[in-house]
Amino acid sequence: MSPATAMLEKAEVADLAAAREMDRYAIVKSHLYTSGEVDHTKPQPRDDAKGKLRLMGHDPRLPKMPEKPRLVDFFKLRFGPCVHMLQSARLAQKNGCSEKIVLACLLHDVGNNGFIRADHGYWGAQLVEPYVDEEVTFAIRYHQALRFFADEKYGYSYPESYTRMFGKEFDPGAHIHRAHEHAKKHKYYEAARLLTVNDLYAFDPSVHVELEEFTDVIGRNFRQPAEGLGFDDSASAHMWRTINWPTRYL
Ligand SMILES: [Fe+2]
Ligand SMILES: [Fe+2]
Repeated sequence: MSPATAMLEKAEVADLAAAREMDRYAIVKSHLYTSGEVDHTKPQPRDDAKGKLRLMGHDPRLPKMPEKPRLVDFFKLRFGPCVHMLQSARLAQKNGCSEKIVLACLLHDVGNNGFIRADHGYWGAQLVEPYVDEEVTFAIRYHQALRFFADEKYGYSYPESYTRMFGKEFDPGAHIHRAHEHAKKHKYYEAARLLTVNDLYAFDPSVHVELEEFTDVIGRNFRQPAEGLGFDDSASAHMWRTINWPTRYL
């Protein structure tokens, strides 16, 4: 058997195993995933889960994570293509930013890239908070607000793409104005501002950046828990577990 045929056969066996697993389990989406498509305030038709177990672990449709997953495993096996974050981190490096800022750029959109899109700065900051310096968390949390406000001192103007995406009259809301005011007076304002400066609003599809370029930055600045992300009982461990097992029934 040629190596290509052997590989194909192996893939088919894996597909079959996944299909069998899916047959065993009722896989139910979280309320949040379908809110808007479904009006959850109305009674819902009951799931046809007769004779099936409720999925309480790994979703067979997804690549399996290692038992003790590290940050890079989430990047590779759960997050969407991270071109934007990688390009932002490289830009920060090129601009001579500190490692903390480079790491903040590398992680700044983990909220919308791997977890929940709305309020992505806050979710992202919360995810990484137990493992990084507070300056990194602050930058990630407040980039969400600061990106809506120009700061000439840092050469940051309101992104043109936002006018296209959100309309000319868009206002991000009172809570975002309050967050901006708070951040402006904070000792870590510059960190959050530098993140917005290096947050690439126009992606360059021709620039290829490998995650491995940042192995050392991650190694020095992200405290990987020995038990693996999700299993160390930190304040955000449950969030990492949810990314690992997004369809776990409860
Ligand atoms: Fe962002
Ligand atoms: Fe971004």
